Amino acid sequence: MRLDKALSLAGHTRSEARRLIAQGRVQVSGAVVRDAGRNVSSGDVMLDGAPIDAQEEIYLMLHKPAGVVTATEDKRLLTVVSLLPEIYQRRKIGPVGRLDRDVTGLVLLTTDGQLAHRLISPRWKAEKCYRARCEGALDANDVAAFAGGLMLSDFTAAPARLEILESGETSLADVILTEGKFHQVKRMFAAVGHPLITLQRLRIGCVTLDEALAPGEYRLLTEAEIAGLKKMSDLDGGCI
Ligand code: URA
Repeated sequence: MRLDKALSLAGHTRSEARRLIAQGRVQVSGAVVRDAGRNVSSGDVMLDGAPIDAQEEIYLMLHKPAGVVTATEDKRLLTVVSLLPEIYQRRKIGPVGRLDRDVTGLVLLTTDGQLAHRLISPRWKAEKCYRARCEGALDANDVAAFAGGLMLSDFTAAPARLEILESGETSLADVILTEGKFHQVKRMFAAVGHPLITLQRLRIGCVTLDEALAPGEYRLLTEAEIAGLKKMSDLDGGCI
């Protein structure tokens, strides 16, 4: 790839990259190079003597707080992308699917449009796990209703697993499903007479929300997490 492209994959704008190169701060295989168009391998490029971190694609997880919209831009409200450092925003990173504004938990963000598409496509059926706090006492009838495929006003939900963790005046449960229609989990709980109080997404496929992340914090996905997501989306051989 071109030298200025390698620097832009490390988070510099093209004009910054050209300036750094012109200032003699960029080395390729140990020698200063002043030609922004030089064909390089990103692993050979150093800036001020340190290797650059040029990533072709970026994959992150964010612990979405309540009140933030799952979008790249919004005129009034904070977005999941606005919670990330500038270096990622410049790379045109976007969220995979969406969570409602009041819903918290795992949001994946990536520059890899093909993977993002497959993770939300009904064809690849990525499993999602949500933790729900709802009104009233959940019981075995609710488990059976979720497993049987709930009829909602405009569609019948595919069978989903409901795992009750607490049951009482309010209940806590995990729900595992492969669909992602508008307000789906809220509507499923409302359909069995247990309106939701809070909802948090804990997992998408093989990627679980990192407990070390406080709301608003993010981290890069590990190689194993990326490989797992690609494997379940038939995008490569995967290696986990
Ligand atoms: N189901 C919902 O109702 N809302 C979400 O944000 C995600 C799933």
